[in-house]
Amino acid sequence: MILPATSRFPLTADLSICRILNGMWQVSGGHGAIDPARAVAAMFLYHDAGFTTWDLADHYGPAEDLIGEFRHQFVVRHGAERLPEIQALTKWVPSPGAMTRPAVEAAIGVSLRRMQVDCLDLLQFHWWDYADPRYLDALKHLADLQREGKIRHLALTNFDTDRLAIIAGHGIPIVSNQVQYSLIDRRPEARMAAWCRDHGVSLLAYGTLLGGLLSEKFLDRPEPGRGDLTTISLQKYKQMIDAWGGWALFQELLAVLKRIADRHGVGIANVGARYVLDRPAVAGVIIGARLGIAEHIADNARPFGFALDAGDLAAIDPVLAKSTDLMRVIGDCGDEYR
Ligand SMILES: NC(=O)c1ccc[n+]([C@@H]2O[C@H](COP(=O)([O-])OP(=O)(O)OC[C@H]3O[C@@H](n4cnc5c(N)ncnc54)[C@H](OP(=O)(O)O)[C@@H]3O)[C@@H](O)[C@H]2O)c1
Repeated sequence: MILPATSRFPLTADLSICRILNGMWQVSGGHGAIDPARAVAAMFLYHDAGFTTWDLADHYGPAEDLIGEFRHQFVVRHGAERLPEIQALTKWVPSPGAMTRPAVEAAIGVSLRRMQVDCLDLLQFHWWDYADPRYLDALKHLADLQREGKIRHLALTNFDTDRLAIIAGHGIPIVSNQVQYSLIDRRPEARMAAWCRDHGVSLLAYGTLLGGLLSEKFLDRPEPGRGDLTTISLQKYKQMIDAWGGWALFQELLAVLKRIADRHGVGIANVGARYVLDRPAVAGVIIGARLGIAEHIADNARPFGFALDAGDLAAIDPVLAKSTDLMRVIGDCGDEYR
């Protein structure tokens, strides 16, 4: 399978990504035991199908090492000249502390070594506490490392709109912000998407499939208890559903999505992904992959083969209108981590 040209997005002039990215949080524990050899074999299946872009982080267990091993085996199979086909977008999530140049450089050095690259395609930076303004120190050092060729592009994850503006005001060039974005969590639409559009910043969405809850598997099912939710991703997004409006309203949403999915000959997850892909400023949707355990490769190609029309959106809107305003109860994007 080769994905259509519409699956690609120029995140920058020199960094084209697949609009459905493979999420690697699922290899970090809490999603089933990952066998490295099987995981790397699975990575070839994603890549060969056209899903060439990986989202990972320094703290996602072996994720950066798996990228390193995948690149190594890729060279053996295809030659080093084809390595640019792979995009690996990692994160740096530092513990609170002084953001000195040596500390920042050392952290980036670890990712470079583990991923077996000379330069990180995209480095997404996370910060836990806005009361501590040293995130600006870290970003200035990261921008220096970018100028020195260790990082191709700088990005953020879980930053709110106010902080995006502060960072831009310091002249730090940011390409994207990775935030939770789904039919359930539409907080990015409140303020962030407009700011991003005005400032040429893209959004990368996660949580779009709610860890798998947004699928036929949970349609017409009684409310799952914690024991039924077998991954930490399912547990995390069940809490979001609770905050958003609860299980009964979620079932209403699944029923509407099922009717839309049937009309297009796709699945509920495909409708959920397509919905977010169509939102302003969204460059891509990250879908978690339990490498070597489960895969939905062919199914996740389907969002590139159909379009939601005005009738579909009009059917979804009344259900969403009954939900709680998560901006009010949680705050802007990323506030759930603070
Ligand atoms: N920046 C952050 O703070 C942050 C936070 C969370 C996640 N992320 C990123 O986002 C990625 C996505 O993770 P997530 O936790 O948000 O999970 P998700 O993508 O909402 O859900 C992933 C799960 O959905 C199921 N799935 C995938 N495709 C499907 C399909 N076509 N039909 C039905 N089910 C399907 C799979 O379940 P099965 O494996 O059980 O089949 C898969 O494990 C992570 O890996 C990570 O890269 C970032």
